[in-house]
Amino acid sequence: MSFAIPANLEAELDELLTHYPHKRSASIMFLHAIQEHFGHISNEAMEWVAAKLQLQPINIYELVTFYPMFHQKPVGKYHLKVCRTLSCALAGSYKLHNHFCNKLGLDSHAHGAQTTPDGKYTVEFVECLASCGTGPVMMVNDQFHEKVDPSKAEEVLARCK
Ligand code: FES
Repeated sequence: MSFAIPANLEAELDELLTHYPHKRSASIMFLHAIQEHFGHISNEAMEWVAAKLQLQPINIYELVTFYPMFHQKPVGKYHLKVCRTLSCALAGSYKLHNHFCNKLGLDSHAHGAQTTPDGKYTVEFVECLASCGTGPVMMVNDQFHEKVDPSKAEEVLARCK
């Protein structure tokens, strides 16, 4: 395995391990730390985490693919996540997703996350963001936005400049 992490990050992860009774319990925090450092979680990184925590790679892969906050590929500086689950879909989230894709020159029908060629924006559908009464709901990185109508969508984009 050619993947390596910097010694200071490994020391940080080793210290983190001391807070958990079982190595496996540190999996999510390890993944957050790896993603914060590398910007995404590669297959090699998953294998590294699995070996470090004495788990099988599938144990880590299932976490990375289940939780939408983890990315297997690099994402843009501004990651726009639009909820597409039922309440938001009925409230207009597909139009909202389409709006962003059109504005940014992305294909709204393509599967999965779309990133602009300059690496500035990623637009992606995600499942329920747990605010179903205030749809359409979206996030830009860690910021939450509710009732995003077309004019609010423009404000959201303007704040990304
Ligand atoms: S359906 Fe969109 S937040 Fe729940």
